[in-house]
Amino acid sequence: MEFNDVLNRRHSCRAFAAQGVEQEKVDRILGAGRMAPTAVNKQPVHIWAVSRPETLEAIKGVTRSNYGAPLLLVVGCRPADAWVRCYDGKNGAEVDAAIVATYLMLAAKNEGLATLWVGSFAPAMLRAILPGAEVDGAATGGSRIV
Ligand SMILES: Cc1cc2nc3c(=O)[nH]c(=O)nc-3n(C[C@H](O)[C@H](O)[C@H](O)COP(=O)(O)O)c2cc1C
Repeated sequence: MEFNDVLNRRHSCRAFAAQGVEQEKVDRILGAGRMAPTAVNKQPVHIWAVSRPETLEAIKGVTRSNYGAPLLLVVGCRPADAWVRCYDGKNGAEVDAAIVATYLMLAAKNEGLATLWVGSFAPAMLRAILPGAEVDGAATGGSRIV
């Protein structure tokens, strides 16, 4: 798709078809996420690609913004791995994650897919479902879901 069309035609979808997303498309979307810049190239971002029906079902209880998407890309970050601005100590992990998520969303549009960014969810519940995301913060190796 022409880049300006990707930008201009993307909009939030709140009614998804149940049909699964082809693996080649998922791979290209995740590949786009890998190309996203991160501060000092620290790459503190993690993505969970969720399409297994039982996991999708479990995640339904985590947000009211559940519109039957057959694929969820959950973006998390590990603050301990991120760049920290020396002037004020601001941790760059969530900015990095937001950039990655934006790349994923636009890449999905480029594949002809509808998307919705969901920020309203219960983090603790989601962390309990996703492997490697059990805790908030890096002290015990977990990733923060953003
Ligand atoms: C950080 C962020 C969080 C959002 N969280 C939600 C959400 O939890 N539920 C929802 O239905 N839409 C959510 N949205 C979608 C916005 O409501 C939507 O992008 C905005 O109204 C503009 O509409 P558009 O995406 O169609 O251009 C979120 C968008 C952003 C950027």
